[in-house]
Amino acid sequence: MEKVFIRTFGCQMNEYDSERISGILVKDGNYTFVNSESPADIIIVNTCSVRQHAEDRALSYIGRYVNKKKVIVVGCMAENLKSQLFIKYPKLFGIVGTYNIPYIDKIIKKGGLYVGKNKDIYRPDIIINKNITSYITIMQGCNNFCSYCVVPYVRGPERSRPVTEIEDEMKKLAENGCKEVTLLGQNVNSYYDKDNKINFPKLLKKLVKIDGIERIRFMTSHPKDLSEELIETIASEKKLCKHFHLPVQSGSDHILELMNRNYTSSLYIEKTSKIREIIKDVAITTDILVGFPCENEKDFNDTVKLVEKVRFDDAFVFKYSERKGTEAAKLRDDVKEEEKLRRLNYILEIQAKISEDINNNEVGKIVDALCLGKSLRSSDELKTTTDKNKKVYIKTGEDKIGKILKVKIKEKRTKDAFFGEII
Ligand code: SAH
Ligand code: SF4
Ligand code: F3S
Repeated sequence: MEKVFIRTFGCQMNEYDSERISGILVKDGNYTFVNSESPADIIIVNTCSVRQHAEDRALSYIGRYVNKKKVIVVGCMAENLKSQLFIKYPKLFGIVGTYNIPYIDKIIKKGGLYVGKNKDIYRPDIIINKNITSYITIMQGCNNFCSYCVVPYVRGPERSRPVTEIEDEMKKLAENGCKEVTLLGQNVNSYYDKDNKINFPKLLKKLVKIDGIERIRFMTSHPKDLSEELIETIASEKKLCKHFHLPVQSGSDHILELMNRNYTSSLYIEKTSKIREIIKDVAITTDILVGFPCENEKDFNDTVKLVEKVRFDDAFVFKYSERKGTEAAKLRDDVKEEEKLRRLNYILEIQAKISEDINNNEVGKIVDALCLGKSLRSSDELKTTTDKNKKVYIKTGEDKIGKILKVKIKEKRTKDAFFGEII
């Protein structure tokens, strides 16, 4: 039996793909898994290309092991750089792009280059995840071509999985003890099962019927396609978590247009107001990209104003990183690195104050909290999350793991976590 170690970079979709890879190889029967690099015969590196920094990290990781082990590079950077990776690392055993992940059991035996389109295959029979929370990718790819983004090139056009396949996978997870599933897609709002004419809100209505799964989350929602039907569906179904991750990227209409985002800042504000009007207690988080080409002080101030107006629960802020082959790469990357960093830190600072205010307001609330397991910090505490995805630590018996509990939030533990008590 060969020993395999998988190192995963990038987003939740990559985590899901790494689980698929493990499932396929377990089914194959010729491999065992190890928890670190040194005992491994084969290292599979699942990679990301969204920013240069993500590629640099993966490249230096590969460099560390490529002459000592059989290294196979999979995922977005494999699809992006293709055979260039063999030029950089002649000893590399395999390069497997995003489309070819389902074929890893064959590829791992032969090595070589496997990139470009191939048939998507999902196999609910290989699900090995036995955790309380799990992911399901419901659609692959993206058609939006935001001008800065490499994802449509490395994950291809949008493809939605059939409803029945997603249902089967969720049932299998429920049998394995899973309680909370996060549905993944680059733009879940445009999910559409053509054969059955089922859009995303209708998919959610079907999935809430699956016994055993207590909660469903989803990400990411694109603001341009966020419908009232979806907001109403979230409001009306108890199992659907009251949390939207709705990346805004910028508050400047000029920059949004250059980014090809297809909405204006006022439309974005309208949509978030609508969410808060229909769902009383809801969390909204976002992604912000600073230092896009031509972003001037006024554009940046528009982003600051939007952040202050919308008051997100949390924001992930990134410095623009030019990606070869994208539309934005034709523009001059003219915002200096120090200025990008200043803008990033400025947004983080104002966001920290807003998050603090919002979190102070959570204290005293009675919430439904899913008990995930032991806290890493303290052995007599258990970690729970609320449906707005806030972390609440409680002291109680381990028999509560996997249960949804009524918890009163007593006080803050850190800036974004709380202590609570079962009531
Ligand atoms: N599909 C999602 C996000 C995918 S990538 C969406 O549409 O929002 C996650 C985040 O990475 C993006 O929201 C964006 O803020 C950031 N990102 C994407 N490309 C980037 C680039 N070239 N440079 C810096 N950040 C980028
Ligand atoms: Fe990239 Fe835009 Fe697609 Fe998100 S919606 S993956 S940012 S192209
Ligand atoms: Fe995810 Fe990075 Fe690919 S963000 S989709 S792993 S480019």
